[in-house]
Amino acid sequence: MTRDAWEARFADDIEAILALKKERNAVILAHNYQTPEIFHCISDIRGDSLALAREAESTDAAVIVMAGVHFMAETAKLMNMDKTVLIPDDAAGCSLAESITAADVRALKAAHPGVPVVTYVNSSVAVKAETDICCTSGNARRVVESLGVPEVIMIPDEFLAQNIQNETGIRMITWPGHCEVHERFTPGEIRQYRRLHPGVTVLAHPECPPDVVAEADYAGSTAGMIDYVGRSGASKVLLVTECSMSDNLAVMHPEVTFVRPCNLCPHMKRITLASIRKSLETMGTEVTIPPEMAARARQAVARMLAV
Ligand code: 13P
Ligand code: SF4
Repeated sequence: MTRDAWEARFADDIEAILALKKERNAVILAHNYQTPEIFHCISDIRGDSLALAREAESTDAAVIVMAGVHFMAETAKLMNMDKTVLIPDDAAGCSLAESITAADVRALKAAHPGVPVVTYVNSSVAVKAETDICCTSGNARRVVESLGVPEVIMIPDEFLAQNIQNETGIRMITWPGHCEVHERFTPGEIRQYRRLHPGVTVLAHPECPPDVVAEADYAGSTAGMIDYVGRSGASKVLLVTECSMSDNLAVMHPEVTFVRPCNLCPHMKRITLASIRKSLETMGTEVTIPPEMAARARQAVARMLAV
């Protein structure tokens, strides 16, 4: 396709999506890993998993389109059982959510009776329904500390749990789930970037292995990283996370040079302008959750939002 054809196609999709949003009384929630044309041109609300869960709870729109992955759409539905929640591509999964089942959680609870279960939102509704409280990368430390116990079962992200254990001293019983994007970073790679780009500020997502987080100047959720870039005044930044983050932030901070490793999330990248347009045209794919399971899972998410 020529450059002119690409531009025309983007413009055509963007115009159609903006009109369809009005017609359907819809909002588009976009995760920070969405590509710039989605993030900057058609979304109403942008953020990390925590912000998207909060916004999903408070929106007045009749339809929510999740430009993100399936567990994010499920969380939005949990908070709005009477609203229509659409995921533009039903196959937009997550390696963490797929690493564990409800039966696995029941077995962990049986092996560690009385130990509270903290579940990362990157999980299915069935897993959340077995859980005491949820967390995101933006509030994991606060959630764990709010329980006031010396030991918790923290699932499914082993590295997030280890990073929170290092920060809080609270003992973690973990599950061997990993993010396929963040597990690929290595400490040697970060040291190499520092050698090649003297003075670079390194920001890492807590889904990275602890030895990678140890090499960073800051670790936090995707929203935490965006805030940090805004307030730190750093002129050269390496984001140790999914690559669209740097593309989106480069638009917001043209004064900052972004060193760009590219670890791409194939699930996030299933969402495109074309799939969002189709979703609004056909009202598919609608996310549904069995009511009994929803009630139990919603409690775990609501407890998190209360913290
Ligand atoms: P955040 O909640 O930090 O946006 O992370 C979500 C995610 O999927 C990171 O891989
Ligand atoms: Fe899941 Fe990792 Fe993709 Fe986030 S980046 S959706 S944790 S696979």
